Amino acid sequence: MNLFDVYPLFDLTLVKGNGSEVFNEKGDKYLDFYGGHAVISIGHNHPHWVERLQYQMNEGISFFSNSVKLPIQNELAEKLGKTSGYDDYSLFLVNSGAEANENAIKIASFHTGRKTIISFSGAFHGRTSAAVAATDNKKIKALVNPDDHVIFLPLNDKKALDKTFAENEVACVIIEPIQGVNGIYEATPEFLQQISQRCKEYGALFIADEVQCGYGRSGKFFAHQWAGVLPDMITTAKGMGNGFPIGSVLIAPHIQAWYGMLGTTFGGAPLACAAALAVLEVIEKDNLISYTEKIGNYLIEEIQQLPGVKEVRGKGLMIGIEMQYPIKELRNQMMSKFNILTGNSSNPNTIRLLPALNITQKQAEEVLDAFKALCQ
Ligand SMILES: Cc1ncc(COP(=O)(O)O)c(C=O)c1O
Repeated sequence: MNLFDVYPLFDLTLVKGNGSEVFNEKGDKYLDFYGGHAVISIGHNHPHWVERLQYQMNEGISFFSNSVKLPIQNELAEKLGKTSGYDDYSLFLVNSGAEANENAIKIASFHTGRKTIISFSGAFHGRTSAAVAATDNKKIKALVNPDDHVIFLPLNDKKALDKTFAENEVACVIIEPIQGVNGIYEATPEFLQQISQRCKEYGALFIADEVQCGYGRSGKFFAHQWAGVLPDMITTAKGMGNGFPIGSVLIAPHIQAWYGMLGTTFGGAPLACAAALAVLEVIEKDNLISYTEKIGNYLIEEIQQLPGVKEVRGKGLMIGIEMQYPIKELRNQMMSKFNILTGNSSNPNTIRLLPALNITQKQAEEVLDAFKALCQ
């Protein structure tokens, strides 16, 4: 059987990972500045992550459905609440970013009895039905994914936001505090504050999609925390499990659950919880959030000075480098000449850097040297 051919692949075969280094089948080493698409938060095969998973398999339970008590789920909820500053929220565990957003949007609709969603130009929220409807990309919507209940507004347009609230019964606003797939564009603090305020005034729910920008990546645990707002729901995935599939919805205390409202077979599986606990423990022990801000600022300042760079966007280790020209060749050369992996975005001129939060100063310098050599 062949794989269903939906992914255009780089000519690169990876067989091993260690920290921010990955290796091909010949043993050649590559520096991963893409974090496997913002997923690798504490480094490939981090020893504590491996140990936590092995312990769960050797001494604990690997899987049971959500019909029994699984204390490791409560342990994760407690740790995530404390680390993120959302102690009083509840946690619904899922398997991916799309599933997290799908459930958050459903919760908003159940809670408000409404269906209109406000989303933004360039938004990416996933490929399942409610999530893809709120995604600004017609190409990935099938006929079974209607989006006539979604209103797309320009990012950071306060007037359009006010007008839309005044004219519609809005169920929720879903926003990436820092847009990822679109090429790293930030929602301004004032815009996030306005969303929060309007949602309260009109009885709608504010969903922060932190699937890519959350989990310490921006230099705060959640990127919306730079704006001092409290969303009604926060969705997570990617960096949460460091490669073990897990996602979640953090849900404000005023939103009521009822039996049967949501459900999933695999969500909250003990192995996934063990991986997620390992990530939080390493983030805390190694002080990775403040380190991310520091090393991210260093990279941003240095990259801004390179020839050919039009703009550097982002925060912490979520960095978009917009060049004055398409980046395809530059990215290929980063890989073929310097063995450095970077990401692209839907903006053809923008490279994305989304490395593990514990990249070393030496690795950062190695990437800067490669950029310096190529951006002449
Ligand atoms: C902001 C954001 N939301 C949701 C998703 C979807 O996550 P997943 O691919 O895990 O379904 C992504 C994936 O890139 C994302 O960047």
